[in-house]
Amino acid sequence: MSGHEFKDLVGQPLDRVDGPLKVSGRATYAADWRGDKPHLIGFIVESPVARGRIVSIDTKEAEACEGVKAIVTHENAPSQIPFGERADGGRFAQSHAMMRSDEVRHVGYPVALVVAATLEQARHAASLVRVEIETEDGIFNPETHEDKAIAPDGLDGSDEVDTEDGDFVAEFAKAAHKVEGEFHTPSQHAAAMEPHATVAEWDGDRLTVHMAIQILGDGRKAFANTFGIDPEDVRIVSPYVGGGFGSKLGVHNEAILAAQGAKLTGQPVRIAQHRRNVFSNGPHRARHRQRLKLGADADGKILAIHHDSLSIMARDYPFAEAAASPTRASYAAKAMRTKHRVVEGDVPKVDSMRAPGEAIGTLTFESMIDELAHECGVDPVEFRLRNEPETDPHSGKPFSTRKMRRCLQEGAEKFGWKGPVSRREGDWLIGHGMAAAIRPNLMQEAEAEIELSADGHLTVRLDMTDIGTGTYTILTQIAAETLGIAPDKVTVKLGDTDFPETCGSGGSFGAGSTGTAVFAAAKVLKDDLLERAAKADSDWKGANSKNLRIEGAKIVLGSRSLPISELANESGGLSAKGAAKPGKEHKTMAQYSYGAQFAEVAVDAVTGEIRLRRLTGVFDAGRILNEKTARSQLMGGMIFGIGAALMEESLMDERYGAFMNRDFAEYHVAVNRDVPRLDVHMVEGFDENSNPLGSKGIGELGICGAGPAIANAVFAATGHRVRKFPIHMEDLLGHLPPLAG
Ligand code: MOS
Repeated sequence: MSGHEFKDLVGQPLDRVDGPLKVSGRATYAADWRGDKPHLIGFIVESPVARGRIVSIDTKEAEACEGVKAIVTHENAPSQIPFGERADGGRFAQSHAMMRSDEVRHVGYPVALVVAATLEQARHAASLVRVEIETEDGIFNPETHEDKAIAPDGLDGSDEVDTEDGDFVAEFAKAAHKVEGEFHTPSQHAAAMEPHATVAEWDGDRLTVHMAIQILGDGRKAFANTFGIDPEDVRIVSPYVGGGFGSKLGVHNEAILAAQGAKLTGQPVRIAQHRRNVFSNGPHRARHRQRLKLGADADGKILAIHHDSLSIMARDYPFAEAAASPTRASYAAKAMRTKHRVVEGDVPKVDSMRAPGEAIGTLTFESMIDELAHECGVDPVEFRLRNEPETDPHSGKPFSTRKMRRCLQEGAEKFGWKGPVSRREGDWLIGHGMAAAIRPNLMQEAEAEIELSADGHLTVRLDMTDIGTGTYTILTQIAAETLGIAPDKVTVKLGDTDFPETCGSGGSFGAGSTGTAVFAAAKVLKDDLLERAAKADSDWKGANSKNLRIEGAKIVLGSRSLPISELANESGGLSAKGAAKPGKEHKTMAQYSYGAQFAEVAVDAVTGEIRLRRLTGVFDAGRILNEKTARSQLMGGMIFGIGAALMEESLMDERYGAFMNRDFAEYHVAVNRDVPRLDVHMVEGFDENSNPLGSKGIGELGICGAGPAIANAVFAATGHRVRKFPIHMEDLLGHLPPLAG
């Protein structure tokens, strides 16, 4: 292939460049990493109770066990800055101190770390640590402590905790059609395939951690702020991450504990959380109660929207999920008010999980919109088209691009939508439902460096991560296309704080932000190559770099070519840096990705069993960077939507504040048998206001709207509206139509 064939590489369904490494087991995940020195293994002793003080801890028996090297407790833990301090850099950068005092924060909170030569030795010794804890009353359910509800200082992704546009009371009073309801969404755990894992090693005051993490820059600050060291003295390496979904945005407990164990023993310590650890030593999505009130006029135009949310916030850990924020950007209405309240409680860290805000916000709001359309006697697709806003409903800002109409219309066509039909096939009740999807399109700061060697190989470096999303691949495509070089001559290196800092993976901002940085670096290199070429050979003067390409060890432009070695520095290569930051359009315009989802369900008329039969999603995410990885992300998101609608919930025993279903036998995610053929479509586009690549965020978009489309289909099938999630068969029993004959 010659260089110009790579002109349209971005967008192509290029296979994952890291695929062969992963399927052959050669990709080094955190717990796979082995250095020169032998690793010790850490095992966490979890508190069996919530909130309290350690009265005594007896480690004698455990210490006497074979292979045990150290037991870290609050009595001998290395010095740490108090939890939550130095929070001006945000929650990911704050101190994540643990076992700093006798305080027990929640069930599963680490009270000791056993460090031994092998996992078996560490686990056995951990079972012999005796701890006595004096418990205090804890808060585990926000609804039973609503009197303690407060407005959080801010929401995840928004400073506006409450909003009030127009006169809700007056408009609602005028409404010809009204619906209202109270919804419950459960606690959930991201439950990534790869549990949180870390290997930590100290060299004097310098700390190196190999860990699974989504955002390295803030993670580095977290270690610095926990142990009182310089961020420059912390190196994080995270080249492969086996799923994050928000649960690995920041540092997690085993990472801090591994650093403590390594400090105490003077040896590298490896801790891989086991599945049950993940449910208390990793973050979770909190349960929410959401109340909705909607009113429309006789023509089915929305007049008034009220959406409020009550949730629990982990004590001293400022994260509140913006459940009502998608509502603010969805439909035109004369009046709208949104409100978020939290109760501080004694639960493990509550944090971002899979489309925070939208995943649970559209679940309830789009269910209620379905009820309102039903009440108005208007088809749900038509109802949404009728209430499509011209500018952002809350801020009044223009949209960067909004192809919601197109998504709704194309989705209806692809799915064969004929309204929320119901029919019967023997004992199966069949229903069709749909919902709109919306997710903020964010852009963050990122830097990248690239280096071209004299033999024509390009290396791209940045501290971005690939959490299974396809980062390695899209960055390869962007660099290759921009420089007119074959993708197999490009090596992308990620996940190391020694590389230029980026925003990392999160909030669906990773690809656009870091892709733009790589794009910028590639352009700088290209211009530099041309400038050098013009100096080396006057023939090149005035040439336009647009069609410059790299072939083998030469740069080529039309019929001219020059060896890279003649242009290179003394080091034999050339390098360039590029940076990305959000343009003013991210302030002056409303930026979102959109979609529409359509579901067909079958409900067993006798048992209430719900089976999803098909799910169609049409999405507007601007320019697609890789058709294959984008489709795969959207499918993954839609599958999370199935989980949200029908399966996933972390159940807490509220007497003790303990999550009860802490493994995949009991925490149910959608598995192959639950996932029918997913029909995924992307409308073509290029959003020039988003970033120079024209892309919009896609990672979390597929989740949004999938759950409510399924819930609305269940309503169509049965005529019964369930206002709690996940919807289970027992929620339908007693509400099913009488059997025929
Ligand atoms: Mo995401 S929940 O910001 O990884």
